[in-house]
Amino acid sequence: MKNVNLLISPSILAADFSDIVTALDEIRESGTDYVHVDVMDGMFVPNISFGPKFVKDMRKHSDLIFDVHLMIEEPERYIKQFADAGSDIITIHHEATRHTHKAISEIKALGLEAGIAINPGTSVSSISAILPFVDYVLVMSVNPGFGGQSFIEESANKVAELCELRDNEGYNYLINIDGGISEKTIKSVASAGVDMIVAGSAFFSSPDKKGFVENMKRLAEEAR
Ligand code: DX5
Ligand code: ZN
Repeated sequence: MKNVNLLISPSILAADFSDIVTALDEIRESGTDYVHVDVMDGMFVPNISFGPKFVKDMRKHSDLIFDVHLMIEEPERYIKQFADAGSDIITIHHEATRHTHKAISEIKALGLEAGIAINPGTSVSSISAILPFVDYVLVMSVNPGFGGQSFIEESANKVAELCELRDNEGYNYLINIDGGISEKTIKSVASAGVDMIVAGSAFFSSPDKKGFVENMKRLAEEAR
């Protein structure tokens, strides 16, 4: 079953960190319910962003759904801290831990929604055993670490594969895609059946953010 209404999660990685309150207001006013929060440790990915305190400080200014993407080694070390900081969804990488089931169970036991992310070089079949337990699958359509990279077209095939698996097996996850998503790339992932998209540079470089969100939803609907 394909979601009719595209969910949009703007990534604050593309915002000005020194004026995060304005960025959160812009996201709220654009008409989306989510904010994508990219946490990078300089080990799992070649970039460093911020830690739980930043998430906690943002929480004071926003009631958006915090969709926290942990691009860190052994994410289980920090799940509790990011949950306490006000996360609603925590997504961990399959490649970052030997214990995905344990980590996903811990996120859920804390009352949050849990997601599993896969890098461009990781196949859907390698996460098949965890699929019954997750609320989201995040398909990385760029190599994680930086915003503003080019979309890897083959990622749409993973979205279609995840859709088919969900239908066949009766799973409940939403399929999210992250990296290089814009008005140019939305159609291929929407026709593959994506439920949710992350948009960093395309969202923040758009002068009319509400128009961007409406346009993306319209393009997705046309492509379904
Ligand atoms: C990449 C991050 C993405 C990034 C997306 O490592 O996980 O969330 O912010 O940025 P764009 O939309 O610019 O590709
Ligand atoms: Zn991300």
